[in-house]
Amino acid sequence: MDQTGALDALLHEERVFRPLPQMVIEANLNPHELEQAQEQANRDFLSYWEDAAHELDWFKKWDQVLDDSNAPHYRWFPGARCNIVYNALDRHIETANKNKLALIWEGEPGDQRKYTYYELYREVNRFANALRSLGVAKGDRVVLYMPLLPETTIAMLAVAKIGAVHSMIYGGFSAKVLRERINDAKAKLVVTADGFYRNGRVVNLKQIVDEALLGACAECVETCVVVHRANVDAEMHEPRDLWYEDLVRRERPSSPTEVMDADDPLFLLYSSGTTGKPKGIVHSHAGYMVGINRTLNWVFDLKPTDIFWCTADTGWITGHSYVIYGPLVAGTTTVMYEGHPLYPQADRLWDVVARYGVTILYTSPTLIRMLMRFGTQYPRQKDLSTLRLLGSVGEPINPEAWVWLHKHIGGAKCPIMDTWWQTETGMFMISPLPISPLKPGSVNKALPGVEADVVDREGNPVPAGKGGFLVIKKPWPAMMSGIDNDPERYENTYWKKIPGMYFAGDVARKDEDGYIWIQGRADDVLNIAGHRIGTAEVESALVAHRFVNEAAVIGIPDTIKGEVAKAFVILTDGWEAEYDTSEDLVSALKNHVRRELGPVAVLKSLEFRTTLPKTRSGKIMRRILKAEELGEDVGDTSTLEDLD
Ligand code: PRX
Repeated sequence: MDQTGALDALLHEERVFRPLPQMVIEANLNPHELEQAQEQANRDFLSYWEDAAHELDWFKKWDQVLDDSNAPHYRWFPGARCNIVYNALDRHIETANKNKLALIWEGEPGDQRKYTYYELYREVNRFANALRSLGVAKGDRVVLYMPLLPETTIAMLAVAKIGAVHSMIYGGFSAKVLRERINDAKAKLVVTADGFYRNGRVVNLKQIVDEALLGACAECVETCVVVHRANVDAEMHEPRDLWYEDLVRRERPSSPTEVMDADDPLFLLYSSGTTGKPKGIVHSHAGYMVGINRTLNWVFDLKPTDIFWCTADTGWITGHSYVIYGPLVAGTTTVMYEGHPLYPQADRLWDVVARYGVTILYTSPTLIRMLMRFGTQYPRQKDLSTLRLLGSVGEPINPEAWVWLHKHIGGAKCPIMDTWWQTETGMFMISPLPISPLKPGSVNKALPGVEADVVDREGNPVPAGKGGFLVIKKPWPAMMSGIDNDPERYENTYWKKIPGMYFAGDVARKDEDGYIWIQGRADDVLNIAGHRIGTAEVESALVAHRFVNEAAVIGIPDTIKGEVAKAFVILTDGWEAEYDTSEDLVSALKNHVRRELGPVAVLKSLEFRTTLPKTRSGKIMRRILKAEELGEDVGDTSTLEDLD
């Protein structure tokens, strides 16, 4: 069991924080209603999700809530016709939400842009028309390689509005990764920006796109649309490259919304797994919108006056579901901040909260741990009294960070929603609600309509307190519809490891009260600052270097990032002729990985070895390297981790 260092503290946490009476009185879902919902979901989970679907607008309702005839290839709401963008924008224009703020955006230098629902709707329509005039049609793939800009929201929604499929690639990935994903998705068009501001510097994004497109497949990318952001002297390659502003200027602000079948794809999002090849996770219109709308409304208890800020990057699933789609479908006001959270100093988060009167702040343990280092001087100087709920996602939060967040940011009155979910699940799965008693470090219990458990390799529930595999026992609406072009990998990765159950890839335990505690990944996937990176991806980047013969990468605990990567490398002969010292070679290899994968996959340390521990079949036993590194007992070699 992968259970070490910082995470140890989770095992010993016994404090319980109960919601204040006011919170219970004001919550949209009171304890009685929650009990009823739970009871309905247990009795008939399809009727529970059907009720959730009725909260949205459809062009045509479903023939059936769930078609499980070809499980695990589940189809939610078959027969229905809809478009998530109709729910995120069009329908609000007909209501009192029309002139409500949909998006508050702040750039790192301090510039601001605000859009009402009506204004956002018009901008999306303009870009939707531009896309259509560029020949993008229903089903085409569009890659978005963008920083956090209003145009990122606009582009995502415009692509979905016309029935095309977006695939957002996080800006921290390299040109090589971008190219691979453009090719894999067979993208027809790329939207990017000239650059963006990050920690006082300008990142030249267009240059990375140019490099990626140099070797992209011939039948891909006909057009690259570039948003003006950072006055970078971008090289525009005619006729391929077009400025966003020139395109939208001539377009009309109205545009038809494509009528989609329920399981038509909405987006593709690549996510790391156990092999070097990332999986293109596919989400579709109907189930996804039902899942994110219900979970956001309940977990964050949305009220008409809320200002909701999720600090995630839109390049990850959290940004898709809870910066853009979820808040807009739910009709709330979402905040987006372009830059570095410590720029110009460590009070930026608190400053943004105070200036816009943010009521809900949803962020990550890594960011909280980073900010904790600066003490309480910064939060104390800002008015954080508007906050009423806090949230955490992406990695286990250690009780110390939880308590700091609760006390110094939430003024001991804001419950923290520690939400467990994944790219694949699309929506929150395990999370407290504002009325739940909270245990710092636990993700609480499965939400109504979701059945989660901790089981052994045969699928039997393990006793309270004992570690096991986290599984989901019933399908849920926002579940991925599959892995792009690879139905077999979808079945093998998620549904065959523990037959009949969705295998999440995490190890967890349940306590005596049924609270779930996530302990980390069960497979060879790293979680660095909440970012999922496959050890195999880093290893294949390393072995691509001519002086690397073999490589093994493990995650080791880190007090800020939760986990960092360490590599063990067997070198080939001859490196001495090129590098003066082994330190020079180490830094060359670190730079090499950064170049190959991008800044998201930074190697913290690197050690040279002459052999690596392997199984009889030749598979590297990273677990042994990890146990050695952490000074732990290597133990039984047939532990849980061997499942993957
Ligand atoms: O290991 C779990 C961890 O993040 C993984 C999913 O990563 P990704 O698909 O990138 O999505 C991240 C944001 C939804 C999970 O398998 N994880 C996610 N949320 C939590 C978590 N670990 C502990 N506590 C959480 N709240």
